[in-house]
Amino acid sequence: MSRRVVVSGGGTGIGLAVASRFASDGDQVTIIGRREEVLERSAKAINSGVDAERVGWEAADLVDPAEVGRVAAAVTSHGPVDVLVNNAGGVSSGGQESLADIEAGWLADFRSNVLTAVLLTEALLPHLSRPGGRIVAMSSVAGVRGPGSYGAAKSALHAWMFGLATALGSEGITANVVAPGFVPDTGFWEGRLSPEIVEPRVESTLVKRAGTPDEVAEAVCYLASPLSGFTTGQILQVNGGAVLGRG
Ligand SMILES: NC(=O)c1ccc[n+]([C@@H]2O[C@H](COP(=O)([O-])OP(=O)(O)OC[C@H]3O[C@@H](n4cnc5c(N)ncnc54)[C@H](OP(=O)(O)O)[C@@H]3O)[C@@H](O)[C@H]2O)c1
Repeated sequence: MSRRVVVSGGGTGIGLAVASRFASDGDQVTIIGRREEVLERSAKAINSGVDAERVGWEAADLVDPAEVGRVAAAVTSHGPVDVLVNNAGGVSSGGQESLADIEAGWLADFRSNVLTAVLLTEALLPHLSRPGGRIVAMSSVAGVRGPGSYGAAKSALHAWMFGLATALGSEGITANVVAPGFVPDTGFWEGRLSPEIVEPRVESTLVKRAGTPDEVAEAVCYLASPLSGFTTGQILQVNGGAVLGRG
């Protein structure tokens, strides 16, 4: 059965792989991001490789409540949402020279990684399928072991998701986290892939390689599947064994 799926940050990187995977499975997908031209290009690329017009897009900055409200109204005008993938996020490039710099970096990371997920989820919550709705948030290995404001922001997603899972379980909605390790083929790492960055990250894995967006998408698809209904309030780590399983 075709599901209705929303993927924030679905125009690039991991979100693009997630959106492609759902579209290939025959689902209807809305991708959201700030850059309309990126969304349009990605939606066209996916649609050209599948059987029908499976992917549409909404351009919005998901830290802006008014924009989130507008996007949620557009998405839900077609009916309930079955799967919400809160994937939008990134790391701030703020300096550490002054307290004002530090404040700006922490606020940017919490806005980008936490607020984007919280606002979109709150806006779509009344429209999630009951039972059967699925919420997935994209954390990071940094949310389990740090460091800094990015790690703390991802970790905040875990506590929030545990609360959602608790509140929504009796309605048949699951809420889980995927925490990827090093996945270089993404906007996240664009312009930052020096050997000093790559080598220690690959070396820290047990499988001695980087991950791919498709491998993360596979984990998301499991947590979104109808047969995953007994899995909720969990953190699924996809990191090549760089951090061994713990919450
Ligand atoms: N790549 C890795 O190694 C890695 C590891 C662990 C976790 N992650 C997490 O995986 C997720 C996806 O990142 P990625 O690696 O695939 O990098 P990416 O290609 O940069 O993807 C991030 C996406 O989020 C969107 N986005 C960011 N801020 C937004 C906002 N305020 N409103 C709407 N959309 C926004 C971006 O689109 P626009 O710029 O057009 O808005 C972009 O499409 C992120 O949450 C990241 O923290 C990545």
